[in-house]
Amino acid sequence: MPYAHITGWGMSVPSKVLTNEDLSKMVDTNDEWIRDRTGIRERRIADERQSSASLGAEAAIAALKIADLLPSDLDLIICSTSTPEHIFPATACIIQDKIGASKAGAFDLSAACSGFIYGLNMGAQAIRSGSVKNVLVIGTETLSRFIDWKDRNICILFGDGAGAFVLQASEKPGGAFGAVMHSDGSGSDLLSIPAGGSRNPASELTLRTGMHFIHMDGKEVFRFATRVMAGATLEAVEKSGWKLEDLAIIVPHQANQRIIDAAARGLKLPIEKFMVNLDRYGNTSTASIPIAAVEAVQQGKLKSGDKVVFVGFGAGLTWGALAAEWTGPLEPAHHVVKPEWYPWFAPVRSFLRRAGRLIEGLIFGRKA
Ligand SMILES: CC(C)(COP(=O)(O)OP(=O)(O)OC[C@H]1O[C@@H](n2cnc3c(N)ncnc32)[C@H](O)[C@@H]1OP(=O)(O)O)[C@@H](O)C(=O)NCCC(=O)NCCS
Repeated sequence: MPYAHITGWGMSVPSKVLTNEDLSKMVDTNDEWIRDRTGIRERRIADERQSSASLGAEAAIAALKIADLLPSDLDLIICSTSTPEHIFPATACIIQDKIGASKAGAFDLSAACSGFIYGLNMGAQAIRSGSVKNVLVIGTETLSRFIDWKDRNICILFGDGAGAFVLQASEKPGGAFGAVMHSDGSGSDLLSIPAGGSRNPASELTLRTGMHFIHMDGKEVFRFATRVMAGATLEAVEKSGWKLEDLAIIVPHQANQRIIDAAARGLKLPIEKFMVNLDRYGNTSTASIPIAAVEAVQQGKLKSGDKVVFVGFGAGLTWGALAAEWTGPLEPAHHVVKPEWYPWFAPVRSFLRRAGRLIEGLIFGRKA
């Protein structure tokens, strides 16, 4: 059975920074309260040209560059997002087109802030089954588009961004090991965007009542999160046949410093074992774990051969953890063509495919 190695990683965040100071001019809040209760200092906000697909595509190309893999080598793209471009088609397909991943299947995965863990596990399982070799897992969000900027309970917490991992099959032991995925739909009302889906289609009423924005019972979500983080981490470690002491680092979902502190206390581990960068990005939902992992590598906290656990929780309710041995790139392929060139050619390919469909329609008619 092949192992699923993490051989590439990348991130993309908007350059626009929104500080606590900026927010205090928009709603009744202040820097001290936000830092005290959450640990967040600032977050990134997408501009009008950026979207979940554009950020996801940039993170994907960065990850492919590290893996030295071409988009056309990909078999599967899993895009985890709670802020997709549309209800359908899948944002994964838009990213597939943007990066020119001509051979890849593509689908979206909706498990909120736990989505990247779910996606990694699904990608790793697909590789282990032998059905695919190269998988791209993306977590991308533009949560700013679903925030009521007058709601101080919500607008202080979230930010935009994307992260991506490349998973590759290899007979060499390593990569993804034990993983757990959990859910409890009885808490589905605790964190949601109530309107815009089939239950409450968009209407004048849903717009007027702000039902298309993120709604949350912060206290209940906080209690749930502090209960599940340590347990899921332990489950993934035990499933891998490891001990907590084996871990070089834990990369948790970046929602609130106090939730991460509670997980550290629950596991009786020093807080230094946890990668934290929520002070600069806020909660970027499913993108937070890959963004934190990329920065952990950049800061030398996560190195080849290290044992790591990724652990997250979120709306659904969902939670989960995945244990992995960090590999780094496999043997470099030394392609003459570079993955970063693909986004230049992909629009041409996309245009030719559209033109081909048009010409075919003109020649043969549009009847089935
Ligand atoms: C949202 C959260 C930060 C609120 O912190 P909290 O300690 O529970 O704060 P409370 O809601 O009890 O509010 C305490 C006081 O601060 C006030 N307050 C709330 N938001 C505020 C803000 N942005 N600025 C200033 N004051 C604020 C409240 O009105 C309340 O005032 P009161 O005591 O006079 O009634 C916290 O509950 C949380 O992080 N929950 C989890 C959210 C999360 O992670 N969601 C994503 C999951 S993926």
